[in-house]
Amino acid sequence: MTTSGFIMLSAQLKRLKGVQVFILRSALAGILLVSFTSQAQMAKNANKFVGNITTRNAVRSDFLTWWNQITPENESKWATVEGTRDVMNWGGVDNVKNFAETNKIPWKFHTLVWGSQYPGWITGLSQADQLAEINEWFDAAHTRYPNVNMIDVVNEAYEANGGKHAPPPFKAALGGTGTSGYDWIANSFKMARQRWPKAILIYNDYNIIEWANEVNWTPTMINAIKKAGAPVDAIGAQAHDAYRIAPATLKSNIDKLAATGLPVFITEFDIPDPTDASQLTTMQNVFPVFWNHPKVVGITYWGYLVGATWKNGTGLLNTNGTERPALTWLKNYIASNPNPPNDFPNFVKGGVGIVPRSSSTPQGPVTLKGPGLMEIFDLQGRMINSLHVNDRTINASMMPSEGSYVVKLNGKFAGIFAKVR
Ligand code: G3I
Repeated sequence: MTTSGFIMLSAQLKRLKGVQVFILRSALAGILLVSFTSQAQMAKNANKFVGNITTRNAVRSDFLTWWNQITPENESKWATVEGTRDVMNWGGVDNVKNFAETNKIPWKFHTLVWGSQYPGWITGLSQADQLAEINEWFDAAHTRYPNVNMIDVVNEAYEANGGKHAPPPFKAALGGTGTSGYDWIANSFKMARQRWPKAILIYNDYNIIEWANEVNWTPTMINAIKKAGAPVDAIGAQAHDAYRIAPATLKSNIDKLAATGLPVFITEFDIPDPTDASQLTTMQNVFPVFWNHPKVVGITYWGYLVGATWKNGTGLLNTNGTERPALTWLKNYIASNPNPPNDFPNFVKGGVGIVPRSSSTPQGPVTLKGPGLMEIFDLQGRMINSLHVNDRTINASMMPSEGSYVVKLNGKFAGIFAKVR
């Protein structure tokens, strides 16, 4: 309703009396309320998030009209931050972090280790210097964003035909294939966990719910790195090609990823289609597969302003600010289905923050009252000590070295014990 329309209606209201005024006023308030609430983050009250990315390296002022999770499109890539060795440019990432924290929505750091958009200078270094630089990059990101909610630790490790998506040229510095076949991936996760005990650590890749080779490779790799002690928390399926795949196939491919036991994020979904009607149909076919899959915990669409997206035709918002039909449908669909199945309801919450999956802030001491079994693990899940005790408090002498350790009492998580200098 325009401002002049509202003034005219108010003037007419003044001419009416009693019940008539009440009814009309209530109706007007209802209209305003509906139009207001329908503009607030589509999935705000749902039990999964629906997010989006930055636009041309900035957060659009209307972001919260639709989305309740944010990923920087390019700002937190290593090449963007450290294009010049040891000169860090955090401006774009700071904007995202501040926006997310101010508005209490989760954000994701994308990405730490990737065979694309890494700084060119790294390839000229010795392996030892490469590893030192990778550690510096992890440290710098951690120092700046110790509380980031989610991190794409490793991105696109599957080697696609033609090498478009490939492991980074510094993979040997991270341990190469090693005994697990994927030591460089496992080590990346261990290095991330050492810095971020609480963040959700994600393996993120292209085509892993779309095309058979990638679909089959991913659980094999995930299981191998888990066996090697990698603290991987979730799988990110980018879903750039999901628009080409039958819904039933998408569903069964998500099942295959979920067989690893990990939750799945849909991280970069987009529908490249400049025709409104067919983009709408694809959205109607594909989005419900993600929304209704119990192992999917959040969905991020990759771009929303027409003309400002990576691929042509993926935008959901016209440049004049009107919604393309796929976006209007999405908004209404989520509003009508706020409670999709979610097997990991506390994994990610709408507020900044993630409900901790455990009380994982280092704490101590941990005490067992009475007799029982006390088990101590390092953060890679390796058992350090197992002892039957009675009224026993853990003390630092039980730990092999400085660090954080998970304590289980009688088979149940009891806390994190930190041994410090
Ligand atoms: O920053 C330079 C700028 O200085 C220069 O003038 C301009 C000229 O082309 O290029 C700018 O860099 C571009 C960069 O985006 C920032 O806008 C690159 O050319 C362009 O290739 C780059 O594209 C990004 C692409 O990743 C790179 O691989 C897309 O915006 C981004 O949407 C896309 O996102 C990736 C995800 O990170 C990972 N999964 C796949 C997805 C699509 O490729």
